[in-house]
Amino acid sequence: MCGIVGILGREAIAFDLVEGLKRLEYRGYDSAGVAVLEGGEITRVRAEGKLKNLEAKLREAPLSGRAGIGHTRWATHGKPTENNAHPHATERLAVVHNGIIENFRELREELQAEGRVFASETDTEVVAHLVTALMDKQMSAEEAVAAALPRLHGAFALGFVFRGEDNLLIGARRGAPLAVGHGDGEMYLGSDALALAPFTDTITYLEDGDWVVLNRASARYFNEKNQPVKRKAQKTQAGAFLVDKGNHRHFMAKEIHEQPEVIGRTLAHYIDMGTGEVRLPFGLPFDWAKVGRLSISACGTAYLAGQIGKYWFERLARLPVEIDIASEFRYREAPMTPGDVMLVISQSGETADTLAALRYAKDQKQHVMSVVNVPTSTIARESHVVAGTLAGPEIGVASTKAFTCQLTVLACLAIAAGRARGVLSGRREKELVTQLIAIPGLVAEALKHEAPIEALARELSKATDVLYLGRGTSFPLAMEGALKLKEISYIHAEGYAAGELKHGPIALIDETMPVIVMAPRDPWFEKTVSNVQEVAARGGAIVLIGPEGVGREVAVDTLAEIAMPEMAPDFSAFVYAIPAQLIAYHTAVVMGKDVDQPRNLAKSVTVE
Ligand code: M6R
Repeated sequence: MCGIVGILGREAIAFDLVEGLKRLEYRGYDSAGVAVLEGGEITRVRAEGKLKNLEAKLREAPLSGRAGIGHTRWATHGKPTENNAHPHATERLAVVHNGIIENFRELREELQAEGRVFASETDTEVVAHLVTALMDKQMSAEEAVAAALPRLHGAFALGFVFRGEDNLLIGARRGAPLAVGHGDGEMYLGSDALALAPFTDTITYLEDGDWVVLNRASARYFNEKNQPVKRKAQKTQAGAFLVDKGNHRHFMAKEIHEQPEVIGRTLAHYIDMGTGEVRLPFGLPFDWAKVGRLSISACGTAYLAGQIGKYWFERLARLPVEIDIASEFRYREAPMTPGDVMLVISQSGETADTLAALRYAKDQKQHVMSVVNVPTSTIARESHVVAGTLAGPEIGVASTKAFTCQLTVLACLAIAAGRARGVLSGRREKELVTQLIAIPGLVAEALKHEAPIEALARELSKATDVLYLGRGTSFPLAMEGALKLKEISYIHAEGYAAGELKHGPIALIDETMPVIVMAPRDPWFEKTVSNVQEVAARGGAIVLIGPEGVGREVAVDTLAEIAMPEMAPDFSAFVYAIPAQLIAYHTAVVMGKDVDQPRNLAKSVTVE
């Protein structure tokens, strides 16, 4: 989801901005720009395409300003044109933005009604006009940003410069990351430490909801309630490594917390934010309307993402789906009707069993589409169509952000199939897309519940067995929660369909057995509640993950309750994945396990 760099320097900084942006190229982008204060006035230079186009423009007309912001944009709202490129500006300020402003339509209408004229199709421009409108009411830049932030919905990071303020840079983060770099009489802002590696190794990471006011000598931090807060600077390894852990102890923790950003980035690749419709960024060699059956094959967490996708394809597109673990599928000799579609899912794109499933499907004359995170991988190269996940490098062996990005792509594909098959009306598609656009913000909300999960982890670390239960898409999610827990804490865990409990596993339940129940408010909520009561009646130690106040509704004694934000039921899997990941992570940390490299496991399984 784009890249941000801001600099308060001692000499001309335009090329330094570009240098920082080059470190963020791996995130993907299709236009770039800078805004620099030249004699107190904001001068913008923007270009379509790669950074070399921006550099060429800067060489033609060099800028001498010492304060500025730069941005690489991955188009979300509006095409990747120069006009839509960041920074966006008014007569008072310029702003760069990562992420999605969910309520941009309402804000734009409100600001247009005041007579403010918009020059781009982006959601970002509402931020520029909103802060300007507040400054027009005699607020200072700092007061205006403080007043504007609570009005913005969604997951985002922002960087501002202001006309006539050569020693002021303001940054803000909610959901998407942002870091401050401390130089010698210089100050920096970057969407990750990598962007700042050419200038400094002393970094302060903003916490979620923070915003910061920078000048060349100091940084003042505020939390989301606008209270002044202290944030520690630390030395970073970003200069030495391609990816670093940021201010997290483990890559897994960093990757869990990156999810609002990478889900947003992946969504932006598949959704036209302007029209609220799914727009696949590639052509298809088949017509969804003529597909008789979709086959899905993958391993581990990718397979469980496929299981969730099956619910979506069947419900939203009425498309029959058959799903197999790739190591079984490759030898099952499944008959397949030529011209149908095989979807393989893989983070690494190198998993041997998944690759074998792909090759079998090709032999069976299937159209092969892959959902992969590594675009240069073997699976990507051998597929007819590649639907990329934009999770960025995933280092932790336990897959987290790749999983939710796989869900993002699967949800968009299911909606596209539903539209093509005449199952979804335009109105329903827009409703679903609106729900998807809200996901990064809801995931950011869910990430705030880390403290009760840390306390729960201390209890779970004493268990030898754990049961996860769920219905609907929460069933595969229960299996994913169990897989995460066993692979990094080595506690034996199983995920079951809640309705299957009484057909066997209920025999295991006693007071030593934690039972973690995924209970989103979906059409099966009441039935899940009945299953919780069955567990309670047998003395099981219940952990309820559900909407705020779910414990009162269920009325049973619990070991813990983890409150999730209220949301429409269709895509609850994204949000409920977060506590499952955090439970596994904190339990493994409490137990002193090697979280990022658990015993016996490899990140990429290239053998059978
Ligand atoms: O690279 P892939 O997505 O193909 O990998 C598949 C599985 O090996 C992987 O998801 C594995 O289950 C993870 N360790 C789960 O966290």
